[in-house]
Amino acid sequence: MNYLEALSRRYSVKKFNKKIIPQEKLHNILESGKLSASSQGLQPYKVFIVQTEEMKQKLIPAFYNPSQISTCSHLIVIISKKTLDENYINGYFRHISEVRETTLENLELFRKSINQHINQKTQDEILNWAEKQSYIVLANLMYAAAIEDIDTCPMEGFRQDIIEDILNINPETEKVTVTLALGYRSEEDHFQHMKKVRKPNEKLFKFI
Ligand SMILES: Cc1cc2nc3c(=O)[nH]c(=O)nc-3n(C[C@H](O)[C@H](O)[C@H](O)COP(=O)(O)O)c2cc1C
Repeated sequence: MNYLEALSRRYSVKKFNKKIIPQEKLHNILESGKLSASSQGLQPYKVFIVQTEEMKQKLIPAFYNPSQISTCSHLIVIISKKTLDENYINGYFRHISEVRETTLENLELFRKSINQHINQKTQDEILNWAEKQSYIVLANLMYAAAIEDIDTCPMEGFRQDIIEDILNINPETEKVTVTLALGYRSEEDHFQHMKKVRKPNEKLFKFI
């Protein structure tokens, strides 16, 4: 299946068939999320993968429409950072220095530019910046899933406070931004037969 075929087949599933997706496919989908680009490589997010039935059941009351959660194979929760403290930045630079086998001194200029970038932002601005990047992860996960023939539904329709409570997220420093249910579409989900509604090219694209 090529890229466009996979994206045309993809739709936001309302009901899955409860079948569990193979580990290898899950692995590939998560790797594509990991490979997402992020501003200055800081990856200001983390990704929880809910795989147990028990945890899915706990999370059901947090969703306005629970049918995806009660039938999906896995639920991904993307959490954005509200703060990037000294520890986080230090850890990032230690990691670059290990992976690229270079000294911290060699990275000093890059570090200064990151400090400047981060220090001038308010907490709201950091969250706003981080959330944009969380959506890049969401898109990569969703499209990789489509190519792996795994169905998804991206969801923002949830009570953030309930999820944060269940997943032990500290709302002072992090925010649950968006979720993605993964699985296989149920035959009963009539949305799969509906035509895609998209703006015509002349309204969407402007060649200049
Ligand atoms: C960020 C985002 C949040 C969404 N939240 C929900 C949601 O909470 N519940 C839901 O059923 N669909 C949700 N959707 C799916 C959209 O309604 C859907 O993508 C849109 O109607 C286009 O349809 P398609 O994805 O089936 O092509 C969301 C989509 C995105 C991108």
